[in-house]
Amino acid sequence: MKIGILGAGNIGKVMGKGLATAGYEVRISSREPHSPKHFPWKQEVGVSGDITSFNEAAQFGEIIIIALPWSCLKDVLETIDSVSLKNKTVIDVSNAVHFVNGPRLLLEDTSAGAIVQELLPESLVVKTLNTISDKVMIHPYFKDGTPIMFMSGNDNPSKDRVRTLLKDLGWSMIVDLGDIGQSRLQESIMLACVISEIQLQAPDSAFGFLRQ
Ligand SMILES: NC(=O)c1ccc[n+]([C@@H]2O[C@H](COP(=O)([O-])OP(=O)(O)OC[C@H]3O[C@@H](n4cnc5c(N)ncnc54)[C@H](OP(=O)(O)O)[C@@H]3O)[C@@H](O)[C@H]2O)c1
Repeated sequence: MKIGILGAGNIGKVMGKGLATAGYEVRISSREPHSPKHFPWKQEVGVSGDITSFNEAAQFGEIIIIALPWSCLKDVLETIDSVSLKNKTVIDVSNAVHFVNGPRLLLEDTSAGAIVQELLPESLVVKTLNTISDKVMIHPYFKDGTPIMFMSGNDNPSKDRVRTLLKDLGWSMIVDLGDIGQSRLQESIMLACVISEIQLQAPDSAFGFLRQ
């Protein structure tokens, strides 16, 4: 399976390496795909991965992952040939946060996931992985128990594909929250997790589901 990742920052590189290691063919993408800053990643990943332009990564992927800061996400999507994303499963990991007396959600009546689906009406957007730090995104292990991963999206076959991908990355407890409107919950959970990490001085933590 071919994966095109829009972005070659923290998430782009971590997901790209994790997926390449799991047997996927991966293209991460950058404004400067030939920059030496990407050489170490390319060396680590070998023939399963490469770094391209945003447009080439979108064309290449059977599944697309958007791994871009909220501040530039819309602008980057507007540069991509819409045919490259049409009818494809698009995973959105973005978070729209600003800082006013601490971290706050930027969007009040909607969510980043819902806006990405509006920006890409012909794509099948699935929100997931936004609640976890890139440091523990792949084969997550926590001594206190199994972390939970949520997803949401309008298209059930796309969510099935994403569930498989998440399992390949080591996630075992996956909960489908419903349609893409429910990504608001995931973005709130992300913020609650960040605030908990700060108060409890426990970076790179995750929420779990405790059964009786
Ligand atoms: N990092 C985490 O632990 C984490 C966890 C969960 C969710 N998220 C979310 O995932 C998304 C990506 O996070 P990240 O940490 O990977 O971000 P990042 O490291 O800052 O990613 C930067 C990527 O975005 C591109 N970019 C930055 N500014 C741009 C601009 N003005 N125009 C075009 N491209 C631009 C960069 O391209 P160049 O290579 O050309 O510079 C690079 O590929 C964010 O929405 C974040 O909230 C992050």
